[in-house]
Amino acid sequence: MSADRIVIFDTTLRDGEQAPGCSMNTAEKLRVAETLVELGVDVIEAGFPIASPDDFEAVRQIARTFSNRTTICALARCRPEDIDRAWDALKEGDDVRLHLFLATSPIHREFKLKMAEAEIVRTAVEMVQRAVDKFVKAGKKVNVEFSPEDAARTELNFLSEVVEKAIAAGATTVNIPDTVGYATPTQYFQCISHLKKHVPNIDKAVISTHCHDDLGLAVANSLAGVEAGARQIECTINGLGERAGNAALEEVVMALRTRRDYYNVDTRINTRKLCAASQQVSGITGMVVQRNKAIVGRNAFAHEAGIHQHGMLQNRTTYEIMRPEDVGFVGTKLVLGKHSGRHAFRDRLKELGLTVDDATFQKVFDDFIELADKKKEVYDSDIVAIVENRTHETQDHWKIISCQASAGTGTIPTATVALDSGDGKRHHDAATGGGPVEAVLHAIERVTGINATLEDLKIRSVSKGKDALGEVVVQVNVDGRTYEGTGLSVDIIEASARAYLKALNQAERQRERADRKSSS
Ligand code: KIV
Ligand code: ZN
Repeated sequence: MSADRIVIFDTTLRDGEQAPGCSMNTAEKLRVAETLVELGVDVIEAGFPIASPDDFEAVRQIARTFSNRTTICALARCRPEDIDRAWDALKEGDDVRLHLFLATSPIHREFKLKMAEAEIVRTAVEMVQRAVDKFVKAGKKVNVEFSPEDAARTELNFLSEVVEKAIAAGATTVNIPDTVGYATPTQYFQCISHLKKHVPNIDKAVISTHCHDDLGLAVANSLAGVEAGARQIECTINGLGERAGNAALEEVVMALRTRRDYYNVDTRINTRKLCAASQQVSGITGMVVQRNKAIVGRNAFAHEAGIHQHGMLQNRTTYEIMRPEDVGFVGTKLVLGKHSGRHAFRDRLKELGLTVDDATFQKVFDDFIELADKKKEVYDSDIVAIVENRTHETQDHWKIISCQASAGTGTIPTATVALDSGDGKRHHDAATGGGPVEAVLHAIERVTGINATLEDLKIRSVSKGKDALGEVVVQVNVDGRTYEGTGLSVDIIEASARAYLKALNQAERQRERADRKSSS
């Protein structure tokens, strides 16, 4: 029997980006969109255009650039001004979708919307019709998604009524959000099964899942939805998203692929690009992927226990249900040395699923040569790290020009830092601290004028050997919000400075966004 195809709807750039400290600028969103297109995602939810001029611009540029390769979607509340704004952002694109949402659960009806059931149904129908009209007038194939927000806590009879009327009004996809991550797999399965059974026109639309991870059940609930007949999954890279996040794209995709015998469905995802996508999103947002995270965590394929290693040597399948290469997992394999040429380096980037433009390639290649000079052996993981480091850094406001620290027994640790403020201007200052790292961080604060509290700082080595690249991850608090940053260097003082600055750049960006929002 031929397998059905599951539509993978990625909302990293909308629901994922809504997570505190995860905001991305338009250039970064375009980079992530390109990665999602190459990954084979069917629908990219690019943003919520009414939310801010930045969101509008990002959706517009993504639709212009990528809607000839995949469907680009924009979110709107069930309000005329939202729908018009979302459409304006999408209208220059080829293959586009409008996504409308309106809450239906009793708790949202009473306390948030203060609307009765009949008014909700009427509003949903009118707004879906308004969205459909946009496509009809533009001579495009109608592609409208409707989400009854907090569907998983909505009475099944009322949910069925809203879904039926939305489909009758022209919705081509009906999404069933578990907005607060409250559902359990059996309950979510029953909810989708109920809709399949009781909504007479359900076959006229694709049923979609949208599960949040507050109880750690987002992936399990999404898969339960598929078992009940859903044919679209909404998810994000690394499970990014508000609070505990959304269903992780890499996990749902690999569960469907690994257990094809059970689900009998396919996706269009090129799974060999999953790890590179995960690392890119982590690098841009500063949200570190936990080491033991399924599929893309650094330990996901590490077998430490002797009994496991013994089994693996006899036959990999004793303890391995997926091959690391199937998800593009990059280990510590030795690849290149100082004498490897540009061609070999470019080929290696391609094999690792890393795409960089020509200008960035030159910088990344220079970094590689510099690293190969310092280290005898350069590993795949080093290459992934320098690419991410370089591609992200080019978008930053503050950039490091130089950084020096001195410390030793009987001396006061002192650091001098020079930074570029993004306009080519050089600013420098010096400071002392309890140790050289603290002295550097103090000097950075003096130059940027950002008052930050360091909440956490972790150091790890990226590959093997005493000369390994060190990666520093920091968490800082600025104006009550926590930001993460990672920095990379064979010198851990410099790596700390880079990580700290990356986190402060995120805070700066958040401040700029807030300023723009309040002045628009
Ligand atoms: O979680 C949710 O309900 C949403 C909707 C806007 C689809 O993100
Ligand atoms: Zn959501």
